[in-house]
Amino acid sequence: MPQPSVTEAAMRSFSQASDPRLGQVMALLVKHLHAFVAESRLTKEEWLRGLEFLTQSAAITDTERNEFSLLSDILGISSMVDVVSQPEGGTASSVLGPFHNHDSVLRPNGVDLSGDQPGQKTWLHGRVLDGQGRPIAHAEIDFWQNADNGLYPAQDPAQDPQNLRCKIRCDADGSYNLLTLRPHPYTVPTDGPVGALLAASGRNVWRPAHFHVIVSAPGYVGLVTELFPADSAYLDNDTVFGVRDGLIVPLQPSHNPKVAARFGIPTPFLEVNFDFHLVPQA
Ligand code: BEZ
Ligand code: FE
Repeated sequence: MPQPSVTEAAMRSFSQASDPRLGQVMALLVKHLHAFVAESRLTKEEWLRGLEFLTQSAAITDTERNEFSLLSDILGISSMVDVVSQPEGGTASSVLGPFHNHDSVLRPNGVDLSGDQPGQKTWLHGRVLDGQGRPIAHAEIDFWQNADNGLYPAQDPAQDPQNLRCKIRCDADGSYNLLTLRPHPYTVPTDGPVGALLAASGRNVWRPAHFHVIVSAPGYVGLVTELFPADSAYLDNDTVFGVRDGLIVPLQPSHNPKVAARFGIPTPFLEVNFDFHLVPQA
């Protein structure tokens, strides 16, 4: 009897998986990894170097820092998973990143997150709508970004852990607004094996400036996305491939006296007007 190829045998070894989806995913993973080994004619030394890289990644991964998640990001895998799982018809999704916290405090719609810290005041507002442009009442927005020094609270002990993040509940007409600051480009963590790989590959380590937003409402597919100021550096060279058409927003100078008075800020301030579109759950 002819022997099956290594690839066929390894794929078939997953055919009895108790979860058929697990069997399918593992067989396809084996198929494509074997094709990669064959096409690149990977040497034993190179494979051992790859295993060493994974071992080093494991050694610095803990509950605060996940080097595998970063590896997924810089290989574009996180973004590909976004792309293939994106439902038709809504706002594009983008990467979650490592700086999301589940314990952001629910603040009133219209909150001022900027306080008296340095940075350019930016009024972010808009509505949460369905695919037909109808408002979704009381959707929840989970928002976070970096401070004027380019750092998130997790990277900067001088910041309050809740700085520049919050949850807010939209009004009945789907509207939301908050006062924040212009976000800034920053580098992904470069002190681990992924940073060494980026350096050895001559790759950019910067992400463009962005606001992170998660929008959720009962009956709709949750949206994890980012908004990118149109004048940011690195829009065309995001090291985690998160920039999508439709998520690049102008930060426009505004002289709106009512908004300035409400927040007690001088004009001009910066304004971003963005509507999020959610897709109903199947
Ligand atoms: C971020 O957006 O914060 C981020 C995303 C992926 C990797 C590192 C940082
Ligand atoms: Fe980020």
